[in-house]
Amino acid sequence: MLSPQVVIIGAGAAGLMCAMTAAARGRRVLLLDHANKAGKKILMSGGGRCNFTNMYCEPGNFLSHNPHFCKSALARFTQWDFIALVAKHGVPYHEKKLGQLFCDNKSSDILGMLLDECQQAGVDLRLDTSVSAIERAGSGYRLTTSLGAIACESLVIATGGLSIPTLGASGFGYQVARQFGHELLPTRAGLVPFTLTDPQLKTLCTELSGTSVEDCRVSCNGQSFLENILFTHRGLSGPAILQISSYWQPGDTVSIDLLPHVDLPEWLLEQQRERPNSELKTLMGEIFTKKMAGLLAEHWFASKPMKQYTPAELKAIAERLSDWQLVPAGTEGYRTAEVTLGGVDTREVSSKTMESLKSPGLYFVGEVLDVTGHLGGFNFQWAWASGYAAAQYV
Ligand code: FDA
Repeated sequence: MLSPQVVIIGAGAAGLMCAMTAAARGRRVLLLDHANKAGKKILMSGGGRCNFTNMYCEPGNFLSHNPHFCKSALARFTQWDFIALVAKHGVPYHEKKLGQLFCDNKSSDILGMLLDECQQAGVDLRLDTSVSAIERAGSGYRLTTSLGAIACESLVIATGGLSIPTLGASGFGYQVARQFGHELLPTRAGLVPFTLTDPQLKTLCTELSGTSVEDCRVSCNGQSFLENILFTHRGLSGPAILQISSYWQPGDTVSIDLLPHVDLPEWLLEQQRERPNSELKTLMGEIFTKKMAGLLAEHWFASKPMKQYTPAELKAIAERLSDWQLVPAGTEGYRTAEVTLGGVDTREVSSKTMESLKSPGLYFVGEVLDVTGHLGGFNFQWAWASGYAAAQYV
């Protein structure tokens, strides 16, 4: 029978960080995963280049019912600590924008670095391993697994959220939490594209599919993000849409300012004065792509020479472009979502140690907890920081 002191279920970002750090402290660590490979989401992340952290990471970049929870862990293992680790391993990286750090080469550089650290510290990593039952045994836990029965003093749940089931995501961590008396906060897909069913909007998006518009301001429920949006066959995507999706609930209206840097009422009046015979769609083609200008003119405005618009019509055009209001039909769901919002209620977990306040020796790290980062490397930073925090106490 295997006799580790610490069992970690889930060899993703948080589980790997927790395992290497606890083993480096001298703990005997067994890291289990039901997948055939560790860190599949790391490999897929950042378009294959892993946006592994963000230079401007702070607690305000995270959503949680308990917004103070993430502060302690984030302060004790910062983005600079992870950057130092990356530098120690000679992994080349760059800032793409907005403090987002990506590998120059491949995401496998980050996974390789974590696996190296695990190996050097003596972590026992077992893949293709399933856990069918967990019970309390004395002051520790006893697991029934495909490797046989395993006893441990500390058990860490690092099984992530529900997004992308094909990458190994399961609701296992939530089941364990419930079994040991934890409350779960409702889960939903976050950082996910919107779908549209309104026939007119859908046609517009389908026809513009693949077109992106830079620096739009997208707002919902008092939050707004200034980033690109992307039209898709199903609706809308792109960084600004993914960001706002985490704040959106079914039925909510989303507002999009397609030209936040332009004083539209002023610009339209100026065009009317200076180019009275030019058509609106020609002028808009100088700002957007020609195709987009043509389609917006067709779907939203009757395009005609500027001199023919009344002041009220110009005002309506400005409002439409700067405050396009739409109610998404839904999201693409866990199939494409980058993260899961909600999960294990952090009010029942120690923010210092990540240990359950209900069942001593049980720890939760990473995305299984109700802590969700913005797009831009924040979710990995939470995985590193929470995994590191638990590793000091397991
Ligand atoms: P993670 O999901 O990484 O790991 C959980 C592990 O548990 C998996 O290995 C899984 O197989 C295992 N597991 C699940 N159930 C199990 C069970 N029953 N038994 C045994 N093992 C089990 N974030 C970011 O900061 N920058 C980025 O660039 C990206 N990019 C990105 C792209 C895509 C496509 C996705 C889906 C997500 C991202 N993210 C991201 C989000 C980021 O990947 C995510 O927040 C972290 O991987 C969460 O780390 P965890 O370790 O908590 O879970």
